[in-house]
Amino acid sequence: MNGKKILIGVCGSIAAYKTAYIIRLLKKQHADVRVIMTPSASGFITALTLSTLSKNPVLTRFTVGDQGEWNNHVELGLWADVFVIAPASANTLAKMANGICDNLLLAVYLSARCPVYVAPAMDLDMHKHASTQANMRILQESGVKIIDAEHGELASGLTGIGRIAEPESIVSIIDDLLSSGSPLQGKKALVTAGPTYEKIDPIRFIGNHSSGKMGVAIARQLMAYGAEVKLILGPVSNLFNLEGINVSNVTSADEMYELAKEQFAGADITVLAAAVADYKPRISADSKIKKNKDNLTFELIKTPDIAVSLGKIKSDDQIIVGFALETDNEVENARKKLFSKNFSMIVLNSLNDPGAGFGHDTNKISILDKDNNTREYELKSKTDVAKDIVDAIVEKYF
Ligand code: C5P
Repeated sequence: MNGKKILIGVCGSIAAYKTAYIIRLLKKQHADVRVIMTPSASGFITALTLSTLSKNPVLTRFTVGDQGEWNNHVELGLWADVFVIAPASANTLAKMANGICDNLLLAVYLSARCPVYVAPAMDLDMHKHASTQANMRILQESGVKIIDAEHGELASGLTGIGRIAEPESIVSIIDDLLSSGSPLQGKKALVTAGPTYEKIDPIRFIGNHSSGKMGVAIARQLMAYGAEVKLILGPVSNLFNLEGINVSNVTSADEMYELAKEQFAGADITVLAAAVADYKPRISADSKIKKNKDNLTFELIKTPDIAVSLGKIKSDDQIIVGFALETDNEVENARKKLFSKNFSMIVLNSLNDPGAGFGHDTNKISILDKDNNTREYELKSKTDVAKDIVDAIVEKYF
Protein backbone atom coordinates (compact mmCIF):
# COMPACT_ATOMS: atom_id res chain seq x y z
CA MET A 1 0.00 0.00 0.00
CA ASN A 2 3.09 2.14 -0.12
CA GLY A 3 1.97 5.67 -1.05
CA LYS A 4 -1.53 4.61 -2.10
CA LYS A 5 -4.05 7.39 -1.55
CA ILE A 6 -6.88 6.25 0.68
CA LEU A 7 -9.75 8.54 1.57
CA ILE A 8 -11.70 7.46 4.64
CA GLY A 9 -15.23 8.72 5.30
CA VAL A 10 -16.59 8.53 8.84
CA CYS A 11 -20.28 8.72 9.75
CA GLY A 12 -22.04 9.13 13.08
CA SER A 13 -22.03 5.65 14.55
CA ILE A 14 -20.73 4.06 17.71
CA ALA A 15 -18.53 1.97 15.37
CA ALA A 16 -16.56 5.15 14.52
CA TYR A 17 -13.93 4.16 17.08
CA LYS A 18 -13.01 1.27 14.75
CA THR A 19 -12.03 3.81 12.10
CA ALA A 20 -9.05 4.61 14.31
CA TYR A 21 -7.89 0.99 13.98
CA ILE A 22 -8.49 1.01 10.22
CA ILE A 23 -6.36 4.14 9.83
CA ARG A 24 -3.63 2.72 12.06
CA LEU A 25 -3.48 -0.48 9.98
CA LEU A 26 -3.35 1.51 6.74
CA LYS A 27 -0.60 3.78 8.05
CA LYS A 28 1.40 0.72 9.15
CA GLN A 29 1.35 -0.30 5.50
CA HIS A 30 2.56 3.20 4.53
CA ALA A 31 -0.66 4.34 2.83
CA ASP A 32 -1.39 8.07 2.45
CA VAL A 33 -4.64 8.50 4.39
CA ARG A 34 -7.01 11.47 4.47
CA VAL A 35 -10.20 11.55 6.49
CA ILE A 36 -13.59 13.24 6.05
CA MET A 37 -16.17 13.18 8.81
CA THR A 38 -19.88 13.90 8.63
CA PRO A 39 -21.03 16.50 11.18
CA SER A 40 -22.49 13.83 13.47
CA ALA A 41 -19.34 11.65 13.38
CA SER A 42 -17.57 14.09 15.69
CA GLY A 43 -20.02 13.12 18.44
CA PHE A 44 -18.46 9.66 18.39
CA ILE A 45 -14.76 10.22 17.70
CA THR A 46 -12.69 13.38 17.61
CA ALA A 47 -11.06 14.87 14.54
CA LEU A 48 -7.94 15.20 16.68
CA THR A 49 -7.69 11.41 17.14
CA LEU A 50 -8.12 10.73 13.43
CA SER A 51 -5.81 13.51 12.28
CA THR A 52 -3.12 12.32 14.69
CA LEU A 53 -3.38 8.76 13.36
CA SER A 54 -3.68 9.72 9.69
CA LYS A 55 -1.04 12.47 9.97
CA ASN A 56 -3.29 14.74 7.91
CA PRO A 57 -5.90 17.35 8.84
CA VAL A 58 -9.40 15.89 9.10
CA LEU A 59 -12.02 17.58 6.96
CA THR A 60 -15.54 18.08 8.24
CA ARG A 61 -16.99 21.10 6.46
CA PHE A 62 -17.04 22.72 3.04
CA THR A 63 -15.21 25.74 4.41
CA VAL A 64 -12.17 26.22 6.61
CA GLY A 65 -12.39 28.88 9.35
CA ASP A 66 -14.02 32.23 8.54
CA GLN A 67 -11.74 33.23 5.70
CA GLY A 68 -13.88 31.89 2.85
CA GLU A 69 -11.38 29.12 2.16
CA TRP A 70 -13.08 25.93 1.05
CA ASN A 71 -12.29 22.23 1.10
CA ASN A 72 -12.36 21.29 -2.52
CA HIS A 73 -14.55 18.20 -2.79
CA VAL A 74 -13.74 17.71 -6.46
CA GLU A 75 -10.02 17.72 -5.77
CA LEU A 76 -10.48 15.22 -2.91
CA GLY A 77 -12.63 12.93 -5.03
CA LEU A 78 -10.02 12.92 -7.77
CA TRP A 79 -7.09 12.57 -5.35
CA ALA A 80 -8.18 9.23 -3.90
CA ASP A 81 -7.22 5.80 -5.26
CA VAL A 82 -10.09 4.45 -3.17
CA PHE A 83 -12.79 6.01 -0.99
CA VAL A 84 -13.87 3.90 1.98
CA ILE A 85 -16.80 5.02 4.11
CA ALA A 86 -16.46 3.15 7.40
CA PRO A 87 -18.66 3.21 9.35
CA ALA A 88 -21.44 4.04 6.90
CA SER A 89 -24.64 4.95 8.77
CA ALA A 90 -28.16 4.22 7.50
CA ASN A 91 -28.59 7.98 7.07
CA THR A 92 -25.52 8.44 4.87
CA LEU A 93 -26.34 5.32 2.83
CA ALA A 94 -29.82 6.73 2.21
CA LYS A 95 -28.43 10.11 1.17
CA MET A 96 -25.82 8.53 -1.10
CA ALA A 97 -28.47 6.37 -2.76
CA ASN A 98 -30.57 9.44 -3.46
CA GLY A 99 -27.93 11.93 -4.54
CA ILE A 100 -28.38 14.16 -1.50
CA CYS A 101 -25.38 16.40 -1.01
CA ASP A 102 -25.70 18.28 2.26
CA ASN A 103 -22.24 17.67 3.69
CA LEU A 104 -18.64 17.43 2.49
CA LEU A 105 -18.53 13.61 2.61
CA LEU A 106 -21.54 13.36 0.28
CA ALA A 107 -20.15 15.98 -2.11
CA VAL A 108 -16.89 14.04 -2.30
CA TYR A 109 -18.82 10.81 -2.94
CA LEU A 110 -20.65 12.43 -5.85
CA SER A 111 -17.35 13.74 -7.24
CA ALA A 112 -15.24 10.60 -6.73
CA ARG A 113 -14.07 8.68 -9.78
CA CYS A 114 -12.25 6.00 -7.78
CA PRO A 115 -13.78 2.76 -6.42
CA VAL A 116 -16.06 3.48 -3.45
CA TYR A 117 -16.55 1.04 -0.58
CA VAL A 118 -19.05 1.35 2.26
CA ALA A 119 -18.92 -0.63 5.49
CA PRO A 120 -22.41 -0.31 7.00
CA ALA A 121 -22.80 -0.21 10.77
CA MET A 122 -26.16 0.08 12.47
CA ASP A 123 -28.63 -1.72 14.68
CA LEU A 124 -30.05 -4.97 13.30
CA ASP A 125 -33.57 -3.67 12.63
CA MET A 126 -32.24 -0.60 10.83
CA HIS A 127 -29.99 -2.86 8.78
CA LYS A 128 -32.73 -5.23 7.72
CA HIS A 129 -35.30 -2.49 7.14
CA ALA A 130 -36.62 -2.61 3.58
CA SER A 131 -35.52 0.97 2.88
CA THR A 132 -31.93 0.38 4.05
CA GLN A 133 -31.75 -2.80 1.98
CA ALA A 134 -33.18 -0.98 -1.04
CA ASN A 135 -30.64 1.85 -0.60
CA MET A 136 -27.79 -0.66 -0.51
CA ARG A 137 -29.10 -2.29 -3.69
CA ILE A 138 -29.25 1.11 -5.41
CA LEU A 139 -25.67 1.82 -4.33
CA GLN A 140 -24.49 -1.58 -5.55
CA GLU A 141 -26.16 -0.96 -8.87
CA SER A 142 -24.24 2.29 -9.17
CA GLY A 143 -20.98 0.48 -8.53
CA VAL A 144 -20.47 1.04 -4.80
CA LYS A 145 -19.01 -2.04 -3.11
CA ILE A 146 -20.64 -3.03 0.16
CA ILE A 147 -18.39 -4.52 2.82
CA ASP A 148 -21.10 -6.59 4.47
CA ALA A 149 -22.00 -5.87 8.07
CA GLU A 150 -21.41 -8.83 10.34
CA HIS A 151 -23.51 -10.72 12.83
CA GLY A 152 -22.82 -10.13 16.50
CA GLU A 153 -23.63 -8.21 19.63
CA LEU A 154 -24.66 -4.62 18.91
CA ALA A 155 -24.39 -1.42 20.96
CA SER A 156 -28.13 -1.62 21.67
CA GLY A 157 -27.58 -4.91 23.49
CA LEU A 158 -29.39 -6.79 20.72
CA THR A 159 -27.65 -9.45 18.65
CA GLY A 160 -27.89 -9.64 14.89
CA ILE A 161 -26.48 -8.35 11.62
CA GLY A 162 -25.27 -4.76 11.80
CA ARG A 163 -21.77 -4.78 13.28
CA ILE A 164 -19.23 -3.14 11.05
CA ALA A 165 -16.82 -5.63 9.42
CA GLU A 166 -13.61 -6.01 11.42
CA PRO A 167 -10.88 -3.43 10.62
CA GLU A 168 -8.55 -6.24 9.46
CA SER A 169 -11.14 -7.46 6.92
CA ILE A 170 -11.76 -3.92 5.64
CA VAL A 171 -8.04 -3.29 5.25
CA SER A 172 -7.55 -6.64 3.53
CA ILE A 173 -10.30 -5.75 1.00
CA ILE A 174 -8.61 -2.40 0.29
CA ASP A 175 -5.25 -4.12 0.05
CA ASP A 176 -6.58 -6.61 -2.50
CA LEU A 177 -8.03 -3.83 -4.59
CA LEU A 178 -4.86 -1.81 -4.56
CA SER A 179 -2.33 -4.59 -4.94
CA SER A 180 -1.66 -4.36 -8.63
CA GLY A 181 -0.97 -8.08 -8.99
CA SER A 182 -3.81 -10.03 -10.58
CA PRO A 183 -2.31 -13.51 -10.51
CA LEU A 184 -5.45 -15.08 -11.98
CA GLN A 185 -5.94 -12.63 -14.84
CA GLY A 186 -7.32 -14.50 -17.85
CA LYS A 187 -8.24 -17.59 -15.77
CA LYS A 188 -11.74 -18.95 -15.45
CA ALA A 189 -13.14 -20.12 -12.11
CA LEU A 190 -16.27 -21.98 -11.07
CA VAL A 191 -17.53 -22.00 -7.47
CA THR A 192 -20.44 -23.86 -5.90
CA ALA A 193 -21.78 -22.44 -2.63
CA GLY A 194 -24.68 -22.62 -0.19
CA PRO A 195 -27.00 -25.49 0.67
CA THR A 196 -29.36 -27.42 -1.55
CA TYR A 197 -33.03 -27.98 -0.79
CA GLU A 198 -34.56 -31.34 -1.69
CA LYS A 199 -38.29 -31.12 -2.19
CA ILE A 200 -40.64 -33.16 0.03
CA ASP A 201 -43.80 -31.32 -1.05
CA PRO A 202 -44.46 -27.75 -2.26
CA ILE A 203 -43.86 -26.47 1.29
CA ARG A 204 -41.23 -28.73 2.88
CA PHE A 205 -37.74 -29.67 1.94
CA ILE A 206 -34.62 -31.36 3.28
CA GLY A 207 -31.88 -28.75 3.65
CA ASN A 208 -28.98 -27.74 5.84
CA HIS A 209 -27.56 -24.72 7.65
CA SER A 210 -24.99 -23.67 5.05
CA SER A 211 -25.06 -19.86 4.74
CA GLY A 212 -23.07 -19.67 1.50
CA LYS A 213 -20.67 -17.16 3.12
CA MET A 214 -17.51 -19.23 2.62
CA GLY A 215 -18.14 -19.99 -1.05
CA VAL A 216 -19.17 -16.40 -1.80
CA ALA A 217 -16.01 -15.07 -0.11
CA ILE A 218 -13.94 -17.44 -2.27
CA ALA A 219 -15.74 -16.34 -5.43
CA ARG A 220 -15.04 -12.69 -4.54
CA GLN A 221 -11.38 -13.43 -3.81
CA LEU A 222 -10.94 -15.25 -7.12
CA MET A 223 -12.47 -12.23 -8.83
CA ALA A 224 -10.23 -9.82 -6.88
CA TYR A 225 -7.26 -11.77 -8.29
CA GLY A 226 -8.49 -11.23 -11.82
CA ALA A 227 -10.33 -14.49 -12.58
CA GLU A 228 -13.60 -14.58 -14.49
CA VAL A 229 -15.89 -16.20 -11.93
CA LYS A 230 -19.08 -18.23 -12.27
CA LEU A 231 -20.92 -18.99 -9.04
CA ILE A 232 -23.61 -21.64 -8.67
CA LEU A 233 -25.42 -20.62 -5.53
CA GLY A 234 -27.93 -22.71 -3.58
CA PRO A 235 -30.83 -21.09 -1.68
CA VAL A 236 -29.33 -18.64 0.82
CA SER A 237 -30.94 -15.92 2.87
CA ASN A 238 -28.01 -13.47 2.97
CA LEU A 239 -27.96 -10.57 0.55
CA PHE A 240 -24.45 -10.83 -0.85
CA ASN A 241 -22.56 -8.34 -2.93
CA LEU A 242 -22.02 -10.44 -6.04
CA GLU A 243 -21.18 -7.66 -8.41
CA GLY A 244 -18.86 -8.78 -11.18
CA ILE A 245 -19.62 -12.46 -10.59
CA ASN A 246 -21.74 -14.50 -13.01
CA VAL A 247 -24.28 -16.02 -10.60
CA SER A 248 -26.73 -18.86 -11.24
CA ASN A 249 -29.22 -19.53 -8.48
CA VAL A 250 -30.29 -23.13 -8.02
CA THR A 251 -32.37 -25.00 -5.47
CA SER A 252 -31.73 -28.74 -5.59
CA ALA A 253 -28.65 -30.97 -5.87
CA ASP A 254 -29.86 -32.12 -9.30
CA GLU A 255 -30.03 -28.54 -10.59
CA MET A 256 -26.59 -27.76 -9.14
CA TYR A 257 -25.20 -30.92 -10.72
CA GLU A 258 -26.58 -30.19 -14.21
CA LEU A 259 -25.24 -26.64 -14.19
CA ALA A 260 -21.86 -27.60 -12.70
CA LYS A 261 -21.33 -30.22 -15.42
CA GLU A 262 -22.16 -27.62 -18.06
CA GLN A 263 -19.95 -24.87 -16.60
CA PHE A 264 -17.00 -27.09 -15.64
CA ALA A 265 -15.66 -27.23 -19.19
CA GLY A 266 -13.20 -24.39 -19.54
CA ALA A 267 -12.87 -23.74 -15.80
CA ASP A 268 -9.22 -23.57 -14.78
CA ILE A 269 -10.14 -23.57 -11.10
CA THR A 270 -13.23 -25.14 -9.56
CA VAL A 271 -13.99 -24.71 -5.87
CA LEU A 272 -16.76 -26.91 -4.52
CA ALA A 273 -17.84 -25.15 -1.35
CA ALA A 274 -21.54 -26.06 -1.55
CA ALA A 275 -23.07 -28.22 1.16
CA VAL A 276 -24.93 -30.48 -1.26
CA ALA A 277 -27.62 -32.71 0.25
CA ASP A 278 -26.50 -36.34 0.10
CA TYR A 279 -30.04 -37.73 -0.12
CA LYS A 280 -33.37 -36.60 -1.51
CA PRO A 281 -36.87 -38.07 -1.18
CA ARG A 282 -37.44 -40.70 -3.88
CA ILE A 283 -40.85 -39.18 -4.54
CA SER A 284 -41.88 -35.61 -3.81
CA ALA A 285 -45.55 -34.72 -3.50
CA ASP A 286 -47.15 -32.16 -5.81
CA SER A 287 -49.54 -30.98 -3.11
CA LYS A 288 -49.07 -30.45 0.62
CA ILE A 289 -48.82 -33.71 2.58
CA LYS A 290 -51.64 -33.81 5.10
CA LYS A 291 -51.19 -34.59 8.80
CA ASN A 292 -53.55 -37.59 8.68
CA LYS A 293 -51.16 -40.40 9.62
CA ASP A 294 -49.36 -41.15 12.90
CA ASN A 295 -46.21 -42.13 11.07
CA LEU A 296 -44.82 -40.96 7.82
CA THR A 297 -41.99 -42.78 6.12
CA PHE A 298 -39.84 -41.36 3.39
CA GLU A 299 -37.60 -43.31 1.16
CA LEU A 300 -34.45 -41.33 0.46
CA ILE A 301 -32.21 -41.87 -2.51
CA LYS A 302 -28.73 -40.57 -3.19
CA THR A 303 -28.25 -37.27 -4.96
CA PRO A 304 -25.55 -37.03 -7.65
CA ASP A 305 -22.09 -36.39 -6.21
CA ILE A 306 -20.99 -33.35 -8.19
CA ALA A 307 -17.41 -33.59 -6.93
CA VAL A 308 -17.03 -37.24 -7.98
CA SER A 309 -18.46 -36.62 -11.45
CA LEU A 310 -16.28 -33.58 -12.11
CA GLY A 311 -13.25 -35.42 -10.68
CA LYS A 312 -13.80 -38.15 -13.28
CA ILE A 313 -13.79 -35.80 -16.26
CA LYS A 314 -11.16 -33.40 -14.95
CA SER A 315 -8.18 -32.81 -17.24
CA ASP A 316 -4.63 -32.55 -15.87
CA ASP A 317 -4.59 -28.78 -16.09
CA GLN A 318 -7.89 -28.30 -14.27
CA ILE A 319 -7.77 -27.72 -10.53
CA ILE A 320 -10.58 -28.82 -8.25
CA VAL A 321 -10.64 -27.75 -4.61
CA GLY A 322 -13.10 -29.53 -2.37
CA PHE A 323 -14.23 -29.11 1.21
CA ALA A 324 -14.54 -31.58 4.03
CA LEU A 325 -16.54 -30.86 7.16
CA GLU A 326 -15.65 -33.64 9.56
CA THR A 327 -16.48 -34.48 13.15
CA ASP A 328 -13.99 -37.31 13.79
CA ASN A 329 -10.76 -38.63 12.28
CA GLU A 330 -10.78 -35.32 10.47
CA VAL A 331 -7.43 -35.40 8.70
CA GLU A 332 -7.69 -39.07 7.77
CA ASN A 333 -11.20 -38.64 6.35
CA ALA A 334 -10.26 -35.47 4.48
CA ARG A 335 -7.21 -37.18 2.95
CA LYS A 336 -9.39 -40.13 1.83
CA LYS A 337 -11.83 -37.69 0.22
CA LEU A 338 -8.99 -35.84 -1.50
CA PHE A 339 -8.12 -39.01 -3.41
CA SER A 340 -11.57 -40.61 -3.80
CA LYS A 341 -13.01 -37.40 -5.31
CA ASN A 342 -9.86 -36.62 -7.31
CA PHE A 343 -9.52 -33.15 -5.76
CA SER A 344 -6.30 -31.22 -6.26
CA MET A 345 -6.61 -29.80 -2.73
CA ILE A 346 -9.07 -30.21 0.09
CA VAL A 347 -10.03 -27.65 2.70
CA LEU A 348 -10.81 -29.25 6.03
CA ASN A 349 -12.94 -27.51 8.58
CA SER A 350 -13.74 -29.27 11.75
CA LEU A 351 -17.04 -28.93 13.55
CA ASN A 352 -15.03 -29.41 16.77
CA ASP A 353 -13.42 -26.00 16.41
CA PRO A 354 -15.51 -23.28 18.05
CA GLY A 355 -16.40 -20.51 15.58
CA ALA A 356 -15.73 -22.70 12.55
CA GLY A 357 -18.13 -24.02 9.93
CA PHE A 358 -21.77 -23.35 9.08
CA GLY A 359 -23.34 -19.97 9.67
CA HIS A 360 -20.38 -18.38 11.47
CA ASP A 361 -18.56 -15.37 10.09
CA THR A 362 -15.30 -17.06 11.02
CA ASN A 363 -13.69 -20.32 10.02
CA LYS A 364 -10.64 -22.37 10.96
CA ILE A 365 -9.21 -24.52 8.24
CA SER A 366 -6.40 -26.78 7.16
CA ILE A 367 -5.52 -27.31 3.50
CA LEU A 368 -4.27 -30.73 2.39
CA ASP A 369 -2.82 -31.47 -1.02
CA LYS A 370 -1.84 -34.63 -2.86
CA ASP A 371 1.86 -34.09 -2.15
CA ASN A 372 1.19 -34.77 1.52
CA ASN A 373 1.43 -31.11 2.49
CA THR A 374 -0.86 -29.84 5.24
CA ARG A 375 -1.18 -26.14 5.95
CA GLU A 376 -2.94 -25.15 9.15
CA TYR A 377 -4.47 -21.75 9.73
CA GLU A 378 -5.79 -19.79 12.72
CA LEU A 379 -9.47 -18.94 13.27
CA LYS A 380 -10.14 -16.00 10.93
CA SER A 381 -12.96 -14.12 9.25
CA LYS A 382 -14.31 -15.97 6.21
CA THR A 383 -12.99 -13.17 3.99
CA ASP A 384 -9.48 -13.81 5.29
CA VAL A 385 -9.93 -17.59 5.06
CA ALA A 386 -10.99 -17.17 1.43
CA LYS A 387 -7.79 -15.22 0.79
CA ASP A 388 -5.73 -18.02 2.39
CA ILE A 389 -7.45 -20.62 0.19
CA VAL A 390 -7.02 -18.67 -3.03
CA ASP A 391 -3.43 -17.76 -2.10
CA ALA A 392 -2.72 -21.48 -1.55
CA ILE A 393 -4.15 -22.27 -5.01
CA VAL A 394 -2.10 -19.50 -6.65
CA GLU A 395 1.07 -20.49 -4.83
CA LYS A 396 0.81 -24.15 -5.79
CA TYR A 397 -0.51 -23.95 -9.34
CA PHE A 398 0.11 -20.52 -10.89
O1 C5P B 1 -18.66 -36.37 0.70
P1 C5P B 1 -18.76 -35.01 1.27
O2 C5P B 1 -20.14 -34.44 1.17
O3 C5P B 1 -18.19 -34.85 2.64
O4 C5P B 1 -17.81 -34.14 0.31
C1 C5P B 1 -17.68 -32.77 0.46
C2 C5P B 1 -17.17 -32.16 -0.81
O5 C5P B 1 -17.81 -32.73 -1.95
C3 C5P B 1 -17.47 -30.68 -0.88
O6 C5P B 1 -16.48 -30.05 -1.65
C4 C5P B 1 -18.84 -30.65 -1.57
O7 C5P B 1 -19.11 -29.42 -2.21
C5 C5P B 1 -18.70 -31.79 -2.57
N1 C5P B 1 -19.95 -32.48 -2.86
C6 C5P B 1 -20.53 -32.37 -4.10
N2 C5P B 1 -21.69 -33.03 -4.40
C7 C5P B 1 -22.27 -33.82 -3.47
C8 C5P B 1 -21.72 -33.94 -2.20
C9 C5P B 1 -20.57 -33.26 -1.93
O8 C5P B 1 -19.98 -31.64 -4.94
N3 C5P B 1 -23.40 -34.46 -3.78
